[in-house]
Amino acid sequence: MRRTLGLLCAAAMLAAAGCGQTSPDKEPQNIKIGVSIYDQYDTFIGLLTDRFLRLAREKEEALDTTITILQESAAGNQIDQNVQVEDFIQSGCDVICINIVDRTDASVIIDIAEAAGIPVIFFNRELVEEDLERWDKLYYVGAEALQSGRMQGQILIDLCRSGFKQVDRNGDGLLQYVMLEGEAGHQDAIMRTQYSVSTVEAAGYRLERLGDEIANWNRAQADNKMTQFLEAHPNAIEVVFSNNDEMALGTIDALHRAGVQPEDWPVVLGIDGTPAALQALEEGEMAGTVLNNALGQAQSMLDLACAVVVGSPLPDNLENGKYIRLPYETITPANVARYKETS
Ligand code: GAL
Repeated sequence: MRRTLGLLCAAAMLAAAGCGQTSPDKEPQNIKIGVSIYDQYDTFIGLLTDRFLRLAREKEEALDTTITILQESAAGNQIDQNVQVEDFIQSGCDVICINIVDRTDASVIIDIAEAAGIPVIFFNRELVEEDLERWDKLYYVGAEALQSGRMQGQILIDLCRSGFKQVDRNGDGLLQYVMLEGEAGHQDAIMRTQYSVSTVEAAGYRLERLGDEIANWNRAQADNKMTQFLEAHPNAIEVVFSNNDEMALGTIDALHRAGVQPEDWPVVLGIDGTPAALQALEEGEMAGTVLNNALGQAQSMLDLACAVVVGSPLPDNLENGKYIRLPYETITPANVARYKETS
């Protein structure tokens, strides 16, 4: 059964770089953008698409071009998402933004879009490179997954340098940790899992893995997995590496329910910089996170979408004519206030 998030129509005037900039010899254009996300319940994707709609609406003041955005959720089903792409094309979309369900299964979408001559901007869930190379009107907007893993590891290194005994609570010289992973096969889950740990090891610290479970970016699943870790290793977990903030918050739910006291609280690390995680940082329940720049990615998608339709110069941050990757940023209690202002 096909489930959709619904049809959101945001009519907005284009003012951003490249958006709706009309040269004297060019008629203003209306632009229709189709957006399909992999899952309507994903917190970070919700933030990103909210910002995308808001940025589009913010252009309403300027110029005589209208953007209409049609938004759907594939609810985790690649076949439904393929149909949504066909529907977008039937509805006259000029460009399509896809947060693909299965990053290894992009061929149907690429074939349909290429046959219709409609450019596709994939975002957040990165295709294999060969797929993106199949047509010159395919793009990707996201971030460098490896960088986020390294930054998460660096937060732990900095904590160890400023007070190793507070991290290594049992004083055995090893850091006992558990890992909460995002979806199997997702580029961010793979890289974050690998590089968070390897960065800490490369700095000379020794780690002992007590557990590693997939919780699919999901708070409730992470709560469940952390509850099991705590039962198996009571008062022994010193560090929680979580591939995203929602799962870090799930581990905090489990820590509270298990009655873990502040002196026994592990170092909890996330990624994304969601408002709830920033709050947890301020309250001392999370030690750090890494900003996954939803606003920057939304802005880049909008700029690129407009540029490919209007035919204006493509954004400066487009690499190899295909990729825009926004840098991650480290957030700790020392700088969280700045991020709260802008989140
Ligand atoms: C990641 C993000 C996760 C989740 C995932 C979905 O970049 O950190 O929280 O949203 O994308 O693809």
